[in-house]
Amino acid sequence: MAKSGDIFSVNDLSDGDLDRLFCATRNAKAHGFDNRFSNKILLTAFFEPSTRTRLSFEMAAHRLGLKVLSFDQSFSSMKKGEGFLETMANLLAMKPDICVVRCGQRLEPKMFDNESPMINGGDGVNEHPSQALLDCFTLLEHFGTDDLFKKKILIIGDVAHSRVAHSNIKLLKRLSAEVILLAPQALRLRHDLGQDLEVSSFSAVPGEISAVMCLRLQKERLIGGLSSDLDLTDFCLTMPRLLRLGTKSLVLHPGPMNLGEEITKEVALCPKSLIYRQVENGVFVRAMLINHCLS
Ligand code: NCD
Repeated sequence: MAKSGDIFSVNDLSDGDLDRLFCATRNAKAHGFDNRFSNKILLTAFFEPSTRTRLSFEMAAHRLGLKVLSFDQSFSSMKKGEGFLETMANLLAMKPDICVVRCGQRLEPKMFDNESPMINGGDGVNEHPSQALLDCFTLLEHFGTDDLFKKKILIIGDVAHSRVAHSNIKLLKRLSAEVILLAPQALRLRHDLGQDLEVSSFSAVPGEISAVMCLRLQKERLIGGLSSDLDLTDFCLTMPRLLRLGTKSLVLHPGPMNLGEEITKEVALCPKSLIYRQVENGVFVRAMLINHCLS
């Protein structure tokens, strides 16, 4: 369990926190942001590449009136040999009011001596809580409901190495969704996170899926590279496959997309795709997460 105020996992938010967060997000979307943190500083410390997550947190912080500092690893003393923990200890010693960190290893609460709240912006293969929050918010918003009861959510691709999948499985289950995983044998989930069903081909997916979440193959995390018998064409979401999953099935992807690999361009841009809505909602959800941590 993280220290109070830290969000390392979706499970660091109680059911009440989740309700309040989603309600505040709906409010911010309807009425705009409350710019009340102009005396606070948010630090983003990203030790892995990012487009959406880092800029979305920074955009959210600016919208709330915070000042933003962004750590740039390529111009840092890590180039002189300083390690991750020592770098983080120095960044936290400067006492930002809130820090968002992304790194290649699993974050543990006891790693840092932080006074100010920390948010996990993606830690190795472990979790990516803000992504799962914005994914679930986007689904709830689309369905106009407070939970995902009776909704079948299919997650396709590299489930083994996807922190997005890990956080989503936990959160989707908490919101009462039925979670089905479709992955090649070598990329199946390594732990039981409460998923309902795991299948290894599109034909084995039970019909009428409410939403499909595609995952990028995490090539950077494959130890020993790709096995030559791993044929991912069987797991790419094409339009005929989407139509077979259900006439109303929505499409999600956390990005970055490798078009033609895990999803075709036609599917990514089709009317049932919520992919850019996810990005739009990310700013609102992250703003309300910052607000939650600072309040
Ligand atoms: C994901 C990540 O970094 O875990 N992207 C994101 O934050 N939007 C997914 C990925 O890299 O495939």
